[in-house]
Amino acid sequence: MRSVIIGTGIGVPANIVTNEALSQLMDTSDEWIRVRSGIRERRYADPGQSSSDLGVIAAAQAIAQAGLTPADIDAVIFATMTPDRLLPGNGPLLQKGLGLRDIPTFDIRQQCSGFLYGLELADLFIQSGRYRRVLLVGAEVHTPFMPWHLGWDTLIGQSTREITEAERAENTLTRDRTVLFGDGAGAAVIEGREGEEGLRLIRLHTDGSGADVLTMHGAGFKRRPFVTHQQIDDGETLPFMAGKEVFRSAVTLMPQAVREVCEASGITVDSLDLVLVHQANLRIIEGVQKALGLPPEKVPHNVERFGNTTAATLPILLHECLTDGLIRPGMNLVFTALGSGLHWGAALYRT
Ligand code: UT7
Repeated sequence: MRSVIIGTGIGVPANIVTNEALSQLMDTSDEWIRVRSGIRERRYADPGQSSSDLGVIAAAQAIAQAGLTPADIDAVIFATMTPDRLLPGNGPLLQKGLGLRDIPTFDIRQQCSGFLYGLELADLFIQSGRYRRVLLVGAEVHTPFMPWHLGWDTLIGQSTREITEAERAENTLTRDRTVLFGDGAGAAVIEGREGEEGLRLIRLHTDGSGADVLTMHGAGFKRRPFVTHQQIDDGETLPFMAGKEVFRSAVTLMPQAVREVCEASGITVDSLDLVLVHQANLRIIEGVQKALGLPPEKVPHNVERFGNTTAATLPILLHECLTDGLIRPGMNLVFTALGSGLHWGAALYRT
């Protein structure tokens, strides 16, 4: 029995926000963002549109593409670092939104590695015989982290109000992070099937000594109370990122993880047909590709259109590659990701 991805879907908001549009709100430029990250545009959810809302759209498409109905799903795994609420998690909200049966829903929070960790759980559920069809969703709405109350209305064309100098200065304080992230969701329906197709091997890693390089200090239960006005004023309810350190870890550990799954499976890196890398930064994706000695066409990317959508990057990319005909039967495919935790790993999948 193997875990086979039998349907995929995406839920991306309609609002396309270009680098030029962001330059109206803060001191940044299309050139800086493109040269440093490869990103040209990203999607922003409408106010009130949440990660579970986008997850429902992606999941509905994945279920339909699999030729199933919501009643056919046996368990849900929802990966997000931007849930609608602190409690409950997004699982029950998705269950209600999709009209799923009374089935277990699991919320996981491995940030950029959420989809990989979800794949591991889905595979274990299926291999154990506990659940036959698992719906795996990765969805994020990062915009509420961003100080877009200072210009959001202008950005989405609902106002022609000029941004004040003070607003511009405040928006600029977080420009190293805000320009990189976008909103979106991707989903996959995974079913246990006999045959050659399916997941072959996953290797996951965690290094808690890297917990401080990409983190959010505020709104956490180490503090009493767990959130204060002071934390908000001090910017502690926004993620902190030591960009260069995360970058170095990403270009080192993702190639290592890809090699690890290849070696453990007795195949060479050269024999991989496609490597789907977490879409954080085009320079990281190209770094992984070069470290593995693969030609660029084997490492597709869409970060230029969506930015970093954290747990959603891999399922969105997978869906696009399938839709574009890049994935054909009999291919060796690897998924790899690294993010806050640090969590990272790789999964080998035979199509
Ligand atoms: O999903 C996993 C999580 N995240 C990642 O994988 C991200 C990993 N890190 C990165 O992708 C890169 O480190 C960044 C894109 C975040 C930054 O690129 P960098 O080449 O490391 O730039 P930097 O942080 O060294 O900044 C260079 C300069 C700085 O100015 P000074 O100090 O040299 O005068 C920044 O203040 O660029 C400035 N800067 C900006 N300028 C215009 C930072 N952000 C911006 C901006 N627009 N948005």
